[in-house]
Amino acid sequence: MILKTKKNNLFEVFAILKDGRLVQSSLIEQVFFAQGIPIQDVAIFSQKGTHRVSAYISRKRQAERILASLRCLKLKKVSFRLKVIPKQNWQKKWEKSFSAFRLTKQFDVVPTWRKYHATHRKPIFLSSINAFGTGLHETTNFMAQLVERCQNCFESFLDIGTGTGLLAIIAKRCGAKEIYAVDIDKQCVKSAKENLKINGLSPSGVHLADISHVKNNQKYGFVAANLITHDLIRLKRKILSFVAPRGFLAISGISLDNLPRIKTNFQVLPVRCVKIITGKQWAALLYRRNS
Ligand SMILES: C[S@@+](CC[C@H](N)C(=O)[O-])C[C@H]1O[C@@H](n2cnc3c(N)ncnc32)[C@H](O)[C@@H]1O
Repeated sequence: MILKTKKNNLFEVFAILKDGRLVQSSLIEQVFFAQGIPIQDVAIFSQKGTHRVSAYISRKRQAERILASLRCLKLKKVSFRLKVIPKQNWQKKWEKSFSAFRLTKQFDVVPTWRKYHATHRKPIFLSSINAFGTGLHETTNFMAQLVERCQNCFESFLDIGTGTGLLAIIAKRCGAKEIYAVDIDKQCVKSAKENLKINGLSPSGVHLADISHVKNNQKYGFVAANLITHDLIRLKRKILSFVAPRGFLAISGISLDNLPRIKTNFQVLPVRCVKIITGKQWAALLYRRNS
């Protein structure tokens, strides 16, 4: 199929699956990741026993190539399609539908374009949601819970792949005195800085960087990394190098299928697993480094 589109459009490549086909949805996600689609551009929607696994792509040719490779899988009872989405409308629509919600035991996420009610428990304001990490995705939610669980047990926090900066803000609220947050994506860095400022926090600890190239001998009391499984495994020793003795390491971005692979890979490190959270599709783990 050749699509005629305007430059500003976005392309949604999606699969429709019925219940009981979760293994297939995970396979489709892996195809998206393997083709270079970042985790924040992949979403799963479920309604009345039907699941839609979508990837949002800005280049038409790439979208067509991914659609073709998905069709080559010849998965039974799964249909694949490509849809053109006018980019601006999509962003506006998403902002319009985004309202305050309960994130963890203590914290609510409150978008700044919604009215703030005093009934909100501890609010975390988001003024920019142009990045992954609104808290609606299971992986972010799990990471937020793990940071909250370690409240007042760490003084410094490293946020690897900060996205909106939500975890860094929670870490600060949970007692961290020092925050160092990095993201490989310029838009995420901009978004995280905006969100830190709107919450009355200094954005000076947010940096544009690829964690694999960060040469920083500092150790942190809590390191958070919500990345794709492949990167968690590839970078595990690098990530661990930032964790202080007896410090915490929280990882997510792990589909349930990949959980055994992560456990095996992290087992060889000088860490002990203290908590595992699993949800419908994703898992997160909290480790503590040996002394
Ligand atoms: C799944 S999002 C997580 C965002 C947020 N921390 C959360 O938990 O919701 C992953 C983020 O990591 C960033 N990222 C991916 N690889 C990275 C790398 N090698 N170094 C730094 N950031 C990276 C992506 O740009 C993205 O913003």
